[in-house]
Amino acid sequence: MKTLMSPSGPGSVSPFSAPPLVVGPFRLADPGRRPPAMRALDGLPGIGDRLRVAAFAELQARDAFQWAADALAGDSVVLRKAWLALARAEDRHLGWLLDRMDALSLDVRGRPVSPELYGALTSSTSVVDFAGLMASAEERGRVAGERFETRLRDVDPTTAALFGQIAREEAAHIRLAERLLRGDEVFFTDDSDLL
Ligand SMILES: [Fe+2]
Ligand SMILES: [Fe+2]
Repeated sequence: MKTLMSPSGPGSVSPFSAPPLVVGPFRLADPGRRPPAMRALDGLPGIGDRLRVAAFAELQARDAFQWAADALAGDSVVLRKAWLALARAEDRHLGWLLDRMDALSLDVRGRPVSPELYGALTSSTSVVDFAGLMASAEERGRVAGERFETRLRDVDPTTAALFGQIAREEAAHIRLAERLLRGDEVFFTDDSDLL
C-alpha cells in the first residue's frame, strides 16, 4: 500500500505522480496553445462551448479525485471514501453535460480544450494543498454554473436548469473542501453526505 512517507528512489514511482489524463471523446489544444475563446452565449455554438468546457472540467476533476484517493488519503479510509464519492459526483455531472450536448447535436470534438485543471490539481503533495486547489476550482465552476443558469433561463431552460443543478452540487463539494482545510474531522458514510 502506498504511504505518504514512502521514499522514492530510482525505479520507484512517487505516490504523488499522477497517470496521464485520458481525454476520452475530447480534443486537446496543441501543447502551449490556448483553446479558442468561447463564442457568444446567445446561440447554440456558444452554449456548446460552455457545455464542452464544463464537461471537460468534470472529467479532469473526476480523475483528479480518483488520483487523490490513492495518492493523498494516506491511511484515512474516510478521506478515501469522500474523494471517491466526489469522483462519482463529477462523473455524473460529466454524463449529464455530454448527454445535453448529444441532445443538442453538438460535437464534443468541435473545439479543443485545455487539460490545465488536471495538471494543477495533481500537482498537490498534501491533503491541504489539494483541498485548497479543489475548493478554488469548485468555486470557479459553481460561479460559472450560476451565471449560465441565469443567462440561459430564457434561451435554453433545460441547459440552464442543468447548470444550476451542477452549481448547487459543487457548493456541497466546496463545503467538504473547507472542512478539510480547517482540519475538521470529516464524517463520511455515503454519497448523500455530499448533499
Ligand atoms: Fe462537478
Ligand atoms: Fe465538484
